[in-house]
Amino acid sequence: MKLWGGRFTKPTNQLVDEYTASIRFDQQLAKHDIQGSMAHVEMLSACNILSESDATAILAGLQTVAEKIQSGDAELTEEHEDIHMNVEKLLVEEIGPVGGKLHTGRSRNDQVALDMRLYLREAIVEISQLLLGVQQALHNQAKAHLDTILPGYTHLQRAQPVLFAHHMMAYVFMFQRDIERLSDSWKRVNQSPLGAGALAGTTFPIDRSLVADKLNFDGVCQNSLDAVSDRDFVVEFLANASLVSTHLSRLCEELVQWSSAEFNFIELDDAFCTGSSMMPQKKNPDVAELVRGKTGRVYGHLIGMLTTLKGLPLAYNKDMQEDKEGMFDTVETLRGALALFAPMIDTMHVKKENMYKAVAEDFSNATDLADYLVGKDLPFREAHAVVGQVVLYCIQQNKFLLDLSLEEFQQFSPLMNEDIYKVLAPESVVNARDVVGGTAKNRVEEQIKTAEQLFQINTEWIHRQAVKIGAKKEEEPIFAHD
Ligand code: ARG
Repeated sequence: MKLWGGRFTKPTNQLVDEYTASIRFDQQLAKHDIQGSMAHVEMLSACNILSESDATAILAGLQTVAEKIQSGDAELTEEHEDIHMNVEKLLVEEIGPVGGKLHTGRSRNDQVALDMRLYLREAIVEISQLLLGVQQALHNQAKAHLDTILPGYTHLQRAQPVLFAHHMMAYVFMFQRDIERLSDSWKRVNQSPLGAGALAGTTFPIDRSLVADKLNFDGVCQNSLDAVSDRDFVVEFLANASLVSTHLSRLCEELVQWSSAEFNFIELDDAFCTGSSMMPQKKNPDVAELVRGKTGRVYGHLIGMLTTLKGLPLAYNKDMQEDKEGMFDTVETLRGALALFAPMIDTMHVKKENMYKAVAEDFSNATDLADYLVGKDLPFREAHAVVGQVVLYCIQQNKFLLDLSLEEFQQFSPLMNEDIYKVLAPESVVNARDVVGGTAKNRVEEQIKTAEQLFQINTEWIHRQAVKIGAKKEEEPIFAHD
């Protein structure tokens, strides 16, 4: 007999059971479901809707059910469709009919919205923590490579030299925005839908704020129809996850390129590469490729969720059950990628000499020659044209700028003097970009310092939220960043 079987005269077609059940995947919410139920029961008792003895029995029963599910001793069945009804069924098996009082003043509609929010809170904390780990790995590489120069590219053509530290820090700031987006979304995730009932509220004199407080929510959803229909917070998470994936994927693409014989700028550690079944010489950057590849599924989940929601009338519709697999898979995908990324970056070997060679054997100092002429009061547009001719001459002569004699330089402009050689050296070219956010060594050092302050803020935020969701104790040390 189904928990809702009263008005039915026939058993459900077995294919329908299989098709509509979500227990296969929503069993991941068991912990959150029971956590929410416990808070709900405590509130019902505080409001004298449940007697103290009933509440005590239900709480003890829920505890046992939680333990049994955790240890794999509880049978979760498709017949009971989803985690909510399976838990209730197990509870009644455990403590008898009084278990049937658990669902007083509640619907699966507000219950599932609650579970999703409890789950996402944890995911946000965990992913922020992992992102911070990646930031720190990049930051370590930056500190180690304040004197490593490589070509910066536009259009994947060598453009102007930059510090490798500067390049690493670019990603640190991208991941910083990702963490900030996640932390900003917290205030929208952390609102309690409980008390919305099926859609219209409940006839019982419940205390929505009390149950919200027990679960450390920042507030309660203000409209019951919205509370059970809203999956914006899932979309927002998937969008934030998509940007994390975008950033990871761009870095992956660079790692793959840099590992090629054509670039030969880095070597990823053996522990983070794989071989070929046929070609004995191969060492492939599979992790970077796969992280890049998995970006597709994360974007797919975002588009899938948006599309599922777009035509839904208020309030709950079964379509919304489709909110789960994409969200779980996104969390798992990011978790896997980020956990690997930090050590992969940490152990990456940077081929400083090869990078320098790529800068030296190149025209990436051409802008500096133009800027030099501007410094002698030539309008930039004219300077650009002069240097264009110098470059063309070099290409024809098979030379680079620093190979030219002063006489050769002066054929193009009498404004060029002996000091040109110093100006065009890669180190000078880099250090001349002495502007906030520029690639000059002192400016990159500033970025490194700024990032350290941001890491501190991230660390404290993560700690506070971890305490809120019970993942950490207040007095536990805030983990030290380096
Ligand atoms: N398994 C459902 C889901 O994930 C729970 C809510 C079901 N509510 C309902 N009225 N059928 O969306």
